[in-house]
Amino acid sequence: MGGRSPNPPLLRALLVGALAIPLAAAGLTAAPPPAAASDNGLSLRPAMGWSSWSFVRRQPTEAKLKAQADALVGSGLKEHGYIHVNLDDFYQKCDSNGFTVDPYGRWAVDSAKFPSGIKALADYIHSKGLKFGFYVTPGIAKNAVTRNTPIEGTSYHAKDIADTSKLEKNYNCKNMYYIDYSKPGSQEFVNSWARQIASWGVDYLKIDGVGSHDIPDVRAWDKALRASGRPINYALSNNLAIADAPTWRQLANSWRTQGDVECYCGPGPNGSGFPLTDWNHITSRFNSAANWQQYAGPGGWNDLDSLEIGNGDQVGLNADQRRSHMTLWAMAASPLLLGTDLTALNATDKAMLTNDRLIAVNQDGIAARRIVNSGPQQVWSKREPNGDYIVALFNTGTSGNQTVAVNWSQVGFSGAAAVTDLWSGQSGGLVNGSYSVTLRPGETRLIRATPQSGTTVRYEAENASFSAGSTVDTDHGGFSGTGFVNTANAAGAYVEWTVESATARDAALTIRYANGTTAGRPMDVSVNGAVVSAGRAFDGTGAWTSWADSTLSVPLKAGSNTVRVTATTANGAPNIDYLDRG
Ligand code: GCU
Repeated sequence: MGGRSPNPPLLRALLVGALAIPLAAAGLTAAPPPAAASDNGLSLRPAMGWSSWSFVRRQPTEAKLKAQADALVGSGLKEHGYIHVNLDDFYQKCDSNGFTVDPYGRWAVDSAKFPSGIKALADYIHSKGLKFGFYVTPGIAKNAVTRNTPIEGTSYHAKDIADTSKLEKNYNCKNMYYIDYSKPGSQEFVNSWARQIASWGVDYLKIDGVGSHDIPDVRAWDKALRASGRPINYALSNNLAIADAPTWRQLANSWRTQGDVECYCGPGPNGSGFPLTDWNHITSRFNSAANWQQYAGPGGWNDLDSLEIGNGDQVGLNADQRRSHMTLWAMAASPLLLGTDLTALNATDKAMLTNDRLIAVNQDGIAARRIVNSGPQQVWSKREPNGDYIVALFNTGTSGNQTVAVNWSQVGFSGAAAVTDLWSGQSGGLVNGSYSVTLRPGETRLIRATPQSGTTVRYEAENASFSAGSTVDTDHGGFSGTGFVNTANAAGAYVEWTVESATARDAALTIRYANGTTAGRPMDVSVNGAVVSAGRAFDGTGAWTSWADSTLSVPLKAGSNTVRVTATTANGAPNIDYLDRG
């Protein structure tokens, strides 16, 4: 991402707002992050896109990558910010000595899998408005050393820089010698590799198999990527040591906090194929996300690994578990790199992935803190720059419902808050003191809580404007002010208030009404011309003298706002007493 990132306009407004306030000022952490993030200027927000490892696994090809890129665009996911297409391991070719190499000792690409070459693939992906990601591991290939290949642009050779006494971790052709970074030519070798990658148009580089003993490699690649002149989002993998978190944060844009999210329990070779993961591989991330929370921020992210959403239950998670999976990744501000088959997107999952309220929780770039950790009950929260809190409640168990509760004081405020359910978008009304929800096993509830401050302002209906044919009546007791509004029994009948707000914010509105019939009298609620609650129910209250409250959270702009309730059926509107603005 970074400077050239084409975030959709919807997100861009949000991101600019979020960036304006430093994390510490947002009250996010008790202490400021312990080390500066990489200053390469990249990944100011967690990366979003797709990676080949989970589904494509050991058989990536040009055709498969193009098909996934096409699907990213065709499905509309790109418009929601999923823009990276990352080629993972197994694009290379092995012989009995390990990786085959090019004339300068860098991994050769398997031309059977990528007949047009990597640059052509990157060009194709760029032509779709997407970004291309690539993969390496530390060290230098044994074949380079055996052939003693020259280091491009220098008089050095592979043997000058290899430490042949030990082998690096590698998951494919293996046989990667350590590089001795005290040797002249070592940085130049990595530079030449980074130059090649940059010339192909790579925008994101994952360096895998990294351990703390590879810090010299991580530094060398950071230098080399910067020297290439191309902005390349720099991602470290996997299971990085938390003791070195300040170093990862300083050098890279993300780091995998654990081993793979894949279960390797599918029927294919190496456990490939569906299922891609299982619930244990998701729940094990809660602890690491909590432990690493303080290290995440603009420019450097805790990577919880791929998001296994897109192909329904066959990924190894039911729908409740998938929503919890995405909720945790969003709360932790983890990169959102899909591992699924985008050419076979399931409608339920597409709705999850394109839920902009969830994406905004991820892209706010704030890693949530865990505030309840009690058996299967987890509650996480974070404060947004505008003063709202995002709260996620989870039942991580596999059997039995759990009633999960949190006091607003644990979240960070007191009193009442207007609550919005971010998965459904529904208003949860005004909630005082504490919030609780009963969750199925694996289920989550993600809410935005807007603390209410100051006094409630009442706007009487009789002082508002209303549709022709309405009267101000006093014949049913219990009303406030000097009367209530009785509109015509017709669709389109309305009452409209002008509501003031000192700041742009989400505010709780309470509409007081009576409906002495047994038939519903639904109304649209609109704010500044936009319907915020369509066909909202105003059911019978038992008698015309029984007044009831309907509370919802709505966005108000600073200054004057128009709030209108409009009957949507021929029954007309209920009798309306007032509007309270919290
Ligand atoms: C009755 C009632 C009114 C109400 C009306 C209605 O006439 O007295 O207050 O507005 O029914 O059905 O809307």
